[in-house]
Amino acid sequence: MNILIIGSGGREHALGWKIKQSEKTENLYFAPGNAGTSALGDNFEVGVSDFPGLKKAVLENQINLVVVGPEVPLVDGIHDFFTRDSELKNIKVVGPKKAGAQLEGSKDFAKEFMRRHNIPTAKYFSVTKNNLAEGIEFLGSLTDPYVLKADGLAAGKGVLIIDDLEEAKNSLREMLGGKFGQASNKVVVEEFLSGVEVSVFVITDGKDYKILPEAKDYKRIGEGDTGLNTGGMGAISPVPFADEEFMGKVKSRIIIPTINGLQDDQIEYNGFIFFGLININSDPFVIEYNVRLGDPETEAVLMRVKSDLVDLLEGAADGTLAEKEIIFDDRTAATVMLVAGGYPESYEKGKVINGLDRVANSTVFHAGTKMQENNVVTNGGRVLAVSSLGENMTEALASSYRNAELIQFEKKYYRKDLGFDL
Ligand code: AMP
Ligand code: GLY
Repeated sequence: MNILIIGSGGREHALGWKIKQSEKTENLYFAPGNAGTSALGDNFEVGVSDFPGLKKAVLENQINLVVVGPEVPLVDGIHDFFTRDSELKNIKVVGPKKAGAQLEGSKDFAKEFMRRHNIPTAKYFSVTKNNLAEGIEFLGSLTDPYVLKADGLAAGKGVLIIDDLEEAKNSLREMLGGKFGQASNKVVVEEFLSGVEVSVFVITDGKDYKILPEAKDYKRIGEGDTGLNTGGMGAISPVPFADEEFMGKVKSRIIIPTINGLQDDQIEYNGFIFFGLININSDPFVIEYNVRLGDPETEAVLMRVKSDLVDLLEGAADGTLAEKEIIFDDRTAATVMLVAGGYPESYEKGKVINGLDRVANSTVFHAGTKMQENNVVTNGGRVLAVSSLGENMTEALASSYRNAELIQFEKKYYRKDLGFDL
């Protein structure tokens, strides 16, 4: 099979690394990919939202299966584009259509979905300019801190957590006034939930599902979970508190009602569902849905999947997932993200990366890199994800940290305290 992976981050490199290991894979392509993915297959110079450009590349290279990494093309309807096009309609696409992608594309839709299907989540109220007074009143009924979420996609920046009520009211007005553009024309005001977060992933064909290894993601730039939010500074899988009992609750209260809810609502769905959960006194609540895999969680999670991923992806696309099996590696995977100094604020690109050839006992997934005159250079804030397996968390982390030291680029930064809370 010829397979195209859409996206350019560590998640897509990890997907490619795993897909490449399948006997079913003939040729592997990425759009647009990065320096790391170019060692696994061919990179097309086509952006993730350039549907006509993707069509051309798919037809020219006889692609059979398309795996969509990031949320933006899904929310923009890439799967619907393929289904509607007479030349593309028989090509398998892994990822939901526009209707299902609303679970991530609209926070209001997701909350309404959870309410309809009795899925545990924070209390909320959706506010537009037309019901601002009620929104302010709802804010006043909550205790601090206050959670405000832009309804639409805002590149991970659309959630504000504010301690002071007056400040929260002002922020609500600012958001409705266009602080996040169209994305905050509607704002979800939410009760704050306090607990430890865990990311749970399933692959589904809309009827059946398989649970992937869960992971803990470290979002803040600073040690001890301080400072600004980032795209993710590292991940660890498994998560000790996500034991059989907890995962049993996740399954019965969240995963099954979500799959059944999609069916009840007649939303055809295939691909991944990422449940961003919070553990409150051993009870799981949904913080958010994403309609794709997480980054950097994927760089840890896929290290622990022993089964053929292409077989699972085909199952999701063909509606035959019930026949498939997923086997986990019991070891621990730890991913340390190396970022450019200054990230998540302004940072420089184009720094030469050295030492990749010295890495041993870890797998390095490229996040923001590109080739420049035979050198691998930095090309983003998150640069490389160093992933390792170990008999336990300490061993896995030690291996990733050892290799994180060996890789050099100017102003490299990484968090040295991953796992501190586990
Ligand atoms: P989201 O984009 O919905 O995942 O929100 C981003 C982050 O904000 C989450 O990963 C949580 O750390 C935090 N967050 C979101 N909603 C809540 C909530 N209701 N209570 C506490 N923290 C939240
Ligand atoms: N790691 C969180 C995300 O991918 O959204």
